[in-house]
Amino acid sequence: MASILQLSPLPQGLVVRLRQYFSVVDGRKLTPMEHAARIDEFVVLLVDGETAVSAAQIAAWPQLKLIAVFGVGYERVDVLAARARGVRVTHTPGVLTDDVADLAIGLLLATARQIGGAQRFIERGDWLQGSYPWTRKVSGARLGIVGLGRIGRAIAQRAAAFDMEIGYHSRQQYADFPGRFFATALALADRCDFLLVCTNGGVATRALVDAQVLAALGCNGILINVSRGSVVDEAALVAAIDQGTIAGAGLDVFEREPQVPAALMGRDNVVLTPHMASATHSTRQMMSDLVFDNVTAYFAGHPLPTPVAESPNS
Ligand code: GLV
Repeated sequence: MASILQLSPLPQGLVVRLRQYFSVVDGRKLTPMEHAARIDEFVVLLVDGETAVSAAQIAAWPQLKLIAVFGVGYERVDVLAARARGVRVTHTPGVLTDDVADLAIGLLLATARQIGGAQRFIERGDWLQGSYPWTRKVSGARLGIVGLGRIGRAIAQRAAAFDMEIGYHSRQQYADFPGRFFATALALADRCDFLLVCTNGGVATRALVDAQVLAALGCNGILINVSRGSVVDEAALVAAIDQGTIAGAGLDVFEREPQVPAALMGRDNVVLTPHMASATHSTRQMMSDLVFDNVTAYFAGHPLPTPVAESPNS
């Protein structure tokens, strides 16, 4: 019997819905022997964006035809190896754009205005002794967006309401976008107050924000990352925060999630969230629906609603 192999934690509602029509096997509960014994069964693989799927794994499932990723980022799936073996890959773009852009702006405001630090100030009773130190103005500041995809544009739209001056660094320049283009992340960091990372993860962007870029952002600059931890050299970031060579950071993603460097914690100029940019009830529901639609389209022999760019859709 054809089965779906689930390798990551996924919303229970999605799994229950899939189980009404298909056999879903929780691969995390199989022993290696059980997995090997059933290897011919698995036709669809269900993963989240954090689960790596290597070329060797793809080759090991002889019947595999579809990898359905719950999330927009799919850099941990070897999509070229999948394509070479005729395995299609889908993801969940579009439905989470607003949420990620919202959280990016939330982190920007929370970091610049030190909302978390100010709350702790009240909770410690420090307000009784005096007022909270002045913080950083957001409206009218220069925002540098790294990665001008759907999410980058949604962030720019929101930032425009704060009268921010917008620059961006991207693989290409976009004639339809009014913000100023910078050919390197370094040049962008040098000319902005807030550097906001929302580019794709993967090898092409690994440590794109390195010690040099952070130095260019400077001691008044704030880094926001809602993309992938891999895009920022985390050791360099910790050093920059420690030494005050940047003013602060708002981070939803980290290099070794769920591990977060202790050096980033307990600071009023650093705001941390646990990779939750798309984790609202309605968006997770829409992501679940999109995964369901891709899987059912595959089994029905219909074109896939949201294949990744590298994957044929029928
Ligand atoms: C979340 O990080 C996603 O890629 O959807």
